[in-house]
Amino acid sequence: MEQETYIYIKNTVKKILNLNLDHYKDEQMKRRLDSWLVRNGASNWDEYFIRIRKESKELSRFRDYLTINVSSFFRDPERWQSLKDTVIPRLFKEARQRNPQNPTLHIWSAGCSIGPEPYTLAMILDDVSAYNRHEILATDFDKGALEKAKNRGPYTAEEVQNLSAKQKLSYLQSGGPPYFVSEKIAKRVQFKEHNLLDDPFPQNMDLVVCRNVVIYFTGETKDVLYRKFRDALRMGGILFVGATEIVPRPQEIGLKGSGISFYEKV
Ligand SMILES: C[S@@+](CC[C@H](N)C(=O)[O-])C[C@H]1O[C@@H](n2cnc3c(N)ncnc32)[C@H](O)[C@@H]1O
Repeated sequence: MEQETYIYIKNTVKKILNLNLDHYKDEQMKRRLDSWLVRNGASNWDEYFIRIRKESKELSRFRDYLTINVSSFFRDPERWQSLKDTVIPRLFKEARQRNPQNPTLHIWSAGCSIGPEPYTLAMILDDVSAYNRHEILATDFDKGALEKAKNRGPYTAEEVQNLSAKQKLSYLQSGGPPYFVSEKIAKRVQFKEHNLLDDPFPQNMDLVVCRNVVIYFTGETKDVLYRKFRDALRMGGILFVGATEIVPRPQEIGLKGSGISFYEKV
């Protein structure tokens, strides 16, 4: 793709979708844009932009595509097991020490997509103790993804494949595929629209989960976001990243590696 075309697409996407593609990796984004145009049978970007200005459904399909919202429950199961066995008990212990009357964990799933990530958190917390207190805030830029998350599904067999038979029984509605998350799990999560590139970050979090989101951003933007995640955490709080993600030189930004995929604010 010509650089001129890419700049034109970026400017138009900013205007129409309020999404700044400058923060996303160029080569990867160009490839995705090229294949989208072919898949949608448009002969050029002018033609496609005229179409999405007229058709709101097509506009949201394009937004869904650009933001890449694949997700699944207990994605990378062994990392979630570490969270459950090591991180959550420690965070609860600290919450009890800080506030014995009201030990509440504040958790943020940033870039939650269609919901499996915050719902995985809710399932783990339900499992750990039915009586524990927590607030799970789940945010994403993609309205369509959030809508599905709030509707508790529908999820495919593939998206729920890491759930055990017992978990399916306890945490999904009966029937399916497609599957829906049960109300008792859904009511533990609060969904909100939020753009990581523009909006203020919540503060004083015990746990920030941001997995498979920053991989699409440039190195510079990643760096800014990791610092902002650090600021969103309370001292001693934990940042949980994706299985293939590493925070470069964490000590320089006040984070310390704490097992694979976990960083503590120090
Ligand atoms: C691949 S999904 C990751 C979902 C989930 N965290 C997981 O690991 O399964 C990436 C998500 O990042 C979201 N995203 C991309 N750019 C964003 C932005 N600027 N602000 C907020 N969310 C964004 C997308 O909408 C998408 O839902």
